[in-house]
Order: sequence, then structure tokens, then C-alpha cells
Amino acid sequence: MKKVNNTNFNIKDVGKTIELYGWVAKKRNLGGLVFIDLRDRSGMIQLVVKPEQADYELASTLKSESVIAATGEIVERESKNPKIPTGEIEVVVSSLKLINMAKDLPFEITDTTTALEDTRLKYRYLDLRREEIKDKLITRSKITMATRNFLVNQGFIEVETPILCKSTPEGARDYLVPSRVNKAKFYALPQSPQIFKQLLMIGGLEKYFQIAKCFRDEDLRADRQPEFTQIDLEMSFVEEEDVMDLTEKLIQYIFKEVKGMDLSLPLMKMKYEDAIRDYGSDKPDLRFDMKIEEITDIFKNTEFSVFQNVLKQNGIINCLVVKEKASEYSRKEIEKLTDYVKTYRASGLAWLKYQENDFTGSIRKVVSEEELLLLKEKLKIEENDIIFIVADQYQITKTALGALRSKLGHDLGLIAEDDYKLLWIVDFPAFEYSEQENRYVACHHPFTAPKDSDIDKLITDPGNCYSKAYDIVINGYEAGGGSIRIHNHDVQEKMFQALGFSKEQAKEKFGFFLEAFDYGTPPHGGLALGLDRLTMLLTKTENIRDVIAFPKTASASDLMSECPNFVEEKQLEELALKIKE
Ligand code: AMO
Repeated sequence: MKKVNNTNFNIKDVGKTIELYGWVAKKRNLGGLVFIDLRDRSGMIQLVVKPEQADYELASTLKSESVIAATGEIVERESKNPKIPTGEIEVVVSSLKLINMAKDLPFEITDTTTALEDTRLKYRYLDLRREEIKDKLITRSKITMATRNFLVNQGFIEVETPILCKSTPEGARDYLVPSRVNKAKFYALPQSPQIFKQLLMIGGLEKYFQIAKCFRDEDLRADRQPEFTQIDLEMSFVEEEDVMDLTEKLIQYIFKEVKGMDLSLPLMKMKYEDAIRDYGSDKPDLRFDMKIEEITDIFKNTEFSVFQNVLKQNGIINCLVVKEKASEYSRKEIEKLTDYVKTYRASGLAWLKYQENDFTGSIRKVVSEEELLLLKEKLKIEENDIIFIVADQYQITKTALGALRSKLGHDLGLIAEDDYKLLWIVDFPAFEYSEQENRYVACHHPFTAPKDSDIDKLITDPGNCYSKAYDIVINGYEAGGGSIRIHNHDVQEKMFQALGFSKEQAKEKFGFFLEAFDYGTPPHGGLALGLDRLTMLLTKTENIRDVIAFPKTASASDLMSECPNFVEEKQLEELALKIKE
């Protein structure tokens, strides 16, 4: 069987006899003729079966999505279809063979399908036949291809690292695999190849990359899967600038190869603190303006008790201004936005509209004329503007307004959909305080080097310690992140100490790694791009499942194979495991 693509043929091939294979995408009986849209991965071609043909009967009974083989002559079509590459021709079938008949389908294979996603996932192999999904997988393949080409040309070598390994702390829960041979012991699936890629640098490989599978048992979102893929890289003898420079050139190459787009470099860099201050997020979407405005000072002598209380507790008052949209916001709409910011722990959302030269709104009566005037001047308020205000603790205020900003950007159509805005976020704090765990946790991961000037603060002042970490943000998504690593035993020990590991715990967990630092460790750093997220961005989908051939649902299951699932009692016994009822 020597299959050729349906779309290899056009008007120049009229008169040729060809043999085609594919799926019956559509079948119509028109004026006694049977028309079949034959689909293969490359696209569609139209077949015509005439009543005098021996296989006419078979053609008439074919069901959608059956696999067939057809031989026939290419002729010029009477009514042409300019939308498809083979639209000027059709194949008059001389022989037809049914290879595999399809049953009635659980859903129709079209790009405009209304089938529920769960149904599509249960029959993912049918869903993959839809052009929309297939095209995304093709784009994904182009991205990995471009990545390999670029990095190999830059002197990188591709190395695989283990899947069964010791836990690597990337901030999520591990997936564990029980060992049969070593009873009561477990492997962890890698949250990333972090430790291994650093060991490869200690091993002298200098430039490594891998298209790496990573596993994280964490709460799933539209841009998170329990099992995902990173374009993971690491380099020796580098500083932050070197890794960022290499990465943005890689991304530029990918954009050019996959989208034909020219990205201009270098990308903009924004300090973490500025991103939080102005956009309430460390992954700001810069496709639209609308910064968070600081208005605390205006209310420093306010009579309004809610603001007074916030200020007494060292909180802040910030706002967003939506230009020329006041008339579009009913009280009901604003209530919805209030509920929305409350999910980000803000205590409320105050608002003011400016219409016909006057303010109205939830705090109109409780703030002074002078305060209103100052607001108007500072925020350059004009007719039909609306101000949304949050007064709360710094982090809550910023996060809530940051989330509101993103929502407004989407809801109000402020985002040019085909636009790409890329930037680096730099100068991250080394730690963030975890209320849950009652200790500092690494903002990036425990192997990230602190800024040289902050090494001494690791233990004495972790809250003011900054790191050599960087994230690349595209259109409001964290597309990747990395750092320069600690390459010194003592500093790494201090880091573990700062994170609350005792010496014994650090030794037990990372002893092998710390030991490696004593045998000649080059300075090194790297980064990992989320391949799934990059594909989402390049294919313009907000659903990560669209870019993964066999994704998991929000509850981390595969609906098609019904996984995870129970196992045989015998398997549990071999592993010395017992299920607690
Ligand atoms: P980090 O944890 O930031 O860094 O991960 C790197 C990138 O991987 C993507 N990503 C995910 N994509 C889909 N689903 C998930 N659950 C998920 N989690 C992360 C994101 C993210 O930016 N070892 C470090 C990298 C380094 O320091 O070199 C690491 O894993 O796009």
C-alpha cells in the first residue's frame, strides 16, 4: 500500500488515474451520483461514484468515517470549490474498497462541533480527526522541530533524564511509584529534570536540552496539566543575560519557523516588583494598557471610615480606570465584578462613574469634593470613565485589581487577538512566605542563586533577598522560567536552612547533590519553557487540552482509557500495598 496525500493533486493532474485512501468525511447522493468527501491528514478530495459503477451500491451504503480505498480518474469539476486546494478537481471512481466500516458516531467530526468536551475526550481518537485539533498537534510538532534545530545549531546536546527518580521539589506534590523490588520504597515522577540537568553540568556537558515530560500533582487549571512537557535547557559558565539572550533567540526562531512572524529583540525586561505594582501580576498581559493606579495619598485624611481603617492597618488604596465605558456598567454588572474581586480576598469593590461633569457611585457620598477633584486630576478622568477601587492590604489589593484588569481586558475586547506581547520578569524575590506552611518557601526553586549582594541575607533577612531568576511572559501567560543556580556547597546548604530544612533533612533529601558540588561545579543556569503553553499561545487557544494529544481532565483522569483505575489485588500484594478502606 503506497499512500499518497489527497492534496497532492490539482487541475494539472486531470486525466491521471490515482489510488487514494482515507476517511469518508461526508457523503451525498445528488442526481443519482454519490459524492464522497475523502479526508486524509493532508485534507479533502471529492470522489464521484456513478450509478453504472460496480461499486455504486457499496458507495451508497458507506457510513461517515469509514476507511476506504478508491481508484479513479481525475477530472475537472463543474462547480469548483475555491476554499480547498483540490477544489477544482474530483476523482471519478472506477473501483472502491471498504477497508473498515465505521459505526454511528458519538459526535460529528466537524470544527464547529457542539459535542461536550467530555465526549470528545472519551473518543479522543475521533476528536483528533477534527482539523482544529490536528492542526494544533502539527504546530506543536513544528515547535519541537524548530527547537531541536536551533539548539543543536547552538551546540546543545539532547539528553534524556530518568522518569523514575527521587523527588525534585518544584513546589507541587509528587506522583509516586511504589517499588516492587525495594518494598515500602517509592520513586517519584520528576516535577522537572532540575537536579539532573544541574548534574549534567557538573558532568561537564556544558549545554544540555531536552523535550522533557514533567509530572505535578497540583490543582489543575485551563493552562495546567498533571503531565506536561518542558523545553528544558541548561548551560555552564553563564550569567542571567546569557540564558535570557539564548532563550529569546530560540523563541524568535520558533515564531519565525512556525508562524512566519518576526519578533524584535531584545525583549523588554520588567522588575517583579514593578509588575506587581502596575499590573498586580508577575505575568502581565501587555496587549492592553490600563495600569493599576496608586491613589492612597489622596485619601490620607479621609473621613470615610472604610478607607481610614485600611490606612490604619498600613493597607493601600488602588484603582483601575476604564475609559469611556461608564454607561456600560449597570449596578448588577458591578455587583458581579465585586463578587469577582472577592474571590481574590478583596473585601469589596468601590466605584465611581464620571458622567455629565459629575461623579456618581458607591462612595460618592462618603468622599469629599476635594478628594474627588484630586482623583479627577491624578487619573485624568474624562466623560464616561469609570473607576474601580480596592482598598486592602498591599498583596490583596494588587492581586485583586490584577485579576480584575485581566477580566476587563477580555470582557471589554481591549485585547488585539492576533497580537503577541513578550517580556521578561526579572529580579524576583528569593522567597515568599507561606501562611499555610508557616515558613519561607522558594519563589522559584531551592537551587536558584540569590543575587551576589544578598547571599548574607539568606538566613538573616530572607524577606529582602532577591534571586537570579527570570520568567518569560507571553500575553499574560508564564511561558517559561529559569535561573542561575547555586554552584557552591555552603550557599546551597544555607538555602536549605533558610527554607527550614534541618541539616539532616537536607542531607537525606539532597545529600548526593550537595556532595556533587564538592567535585568541581561550574557556574551554570538555565530555563524551561512550557511546550504546551507555547503551543497554546501559537495556536491561540486558552485550553491546554487542545494542544495535547491525550490530555487529562480537570480531575486528572483520562476519560478514554478510564485512568487512573483500580489494580488487581495481586499487583498490590507484590508491591506490599494495602488500600485503606
Ligand atoms: P517552572 O516550574 O517555572 O520551572 O516550569 C517551567 C514552565 O513549565 C510550564 N509549566 C506547566 N505547564 C503545564 N502544566 C503545568 N502543570 C505546568 N507547570 C509548569 C510553565 C512554566 O513556566 N526546573 C524549573 C526550570 C528551571 O529553573 O530551569 C521549572 O520547572 O510554562
